[in-house]
Amino acid sequence: MLRRWAAGVGTLRPFLLGVVLGGLAVARLTMDRPAAPQVGQPESRPAAPPSGDWSPPEYLAYSGWHYLRVDDNGWSTGPVGSYRDLDARLDRQDPSVQEILIPVFPTVFVPTMDDKAYYNAILASDIRPGDKVLVVGTGSGADAWVAWLKSQSLIRVVELNPVAVVNARTTARIAGFPIRAVVGDITRVQLPEDFRDFDYVLWNMPFLEPAGGLEECLYHDGDTGPLLKAFLERLPSLLKRGGKAILLNTPHAAEYFRLPGATSRPDGSCTLYVVPNP
Ligand SMILES: C[S@@+](CC[C@H](N)C(=O)[O-])C[C@H]1O[C@@H](n2cnc3c(N)ncnc32)[C@H](O)[C@@H]1O
Repeated sequence: MLRRWAAGVGTLRPFLLGVVLGGLAVARLTMDRPAAPQVGQPESRPAAPPSGDWSPPEYLAYSGWHYLRVDDNGWSTGPVGSYRDLDARLDRQDPSVQEILIPVFPTVFVPTMDDKAYYNAILASDIRPGDKVLVVGTGSGADAWVAWLKSQSLIRVVELNPVAVVNARTTARIAGFPIRAVVGDITRVQLPEDFRDFDYVLWNMPFLEPAGGLEECLYHDGDTGPLLKAFLERLPSLLKRGGKAILLNTPHAAEYFRLPGATSRPDGSCTLYVVPNP
C-alpha cells in the first residue's frame, strides 16, 4: 500500500513541482494585476496596439469568426479577419443587412463560397414560413440560420460532432432563432418522435471521394459511399409525402442519386442534388 503511494508520489513529482511553481506564478500575477472595474462601471476595451510597437502574431491572426450574409446577390460568407477587425465589426452591425457574425469552433467545418450552390438552393427553394425543416450535419449552424430565414420556425438538426452542436446552438443564440439538436449519426441514431414528416431535409454532405481520396478530409468530411447509401435509405422515413431534400455532394455521387424525380445541377467542383419524396 505504502509502496504504491510512494510510487504514486514519485510519478506525481513533476506535477507537484508544477503546482508549486504555478501557485507562485499565480500569486505574482494577482499582485501585478490592475484593480478589477467596480460593479456597474463599463470595462474599458484594450486600446489597439500602436502600429509597429506591439503586434504579437496572435493579436493580428485570423480570428475564427466568419460572416454569413444574404443580400440581392444571394448567400455569401468569409472570414471576419483578425480580432481587431472583429471588434470593430461587432460594433458596426447593420440591422438593415441580413448578416450575422459567428464563431467556428475547433473541429467544426468552415463554410466557404464553394458551398454557395447549396445555400442559394435553400434560399431559392419553396420552403415557406412554418415549414418543418431538418438540417443534417449543420456544423457551425450556418445552414440552420439560412433555413430559418425561410421557415421562420423551429429548426431541427442532427449532427455527429458534439462540438458542432454546441457551435450551432451558439449561432442560433447569436442570430436569435430556435433550434432543437440531436447528437448522433443520421444513418442510425434513434430520433425523437417529432423528427419526422419534414417538408425539407437539408445536408451539405461529407463529400463522396473515389476510394483512396479521403486523406485530406477532416472531421467526418469524407465518404467512400456507405454513408451516402445508408442516408438515402433513411431519407424517405424522414420526409413527409411531397417533401424534398436539398443535398450537396460531388459529381462522383451522381450514381447514388438515380432515384425517381431526383435532379442534379453541377456547380464548380460540387453538384447540387434535389430529391423529392413521391
Ligand atoms: C461538409 S460539412 C457541412 C457543415 C455545415 N452544414 C456547413 O454547410 O457549413 C458536413 C457535416 O456533416 C457532419 N456529419 C458527417 N457525418 C455525419 C453523420 N453520419 N450524421 C450526422 N452528421 C454527420 C459533419 O460533422 C459536418 O459537420
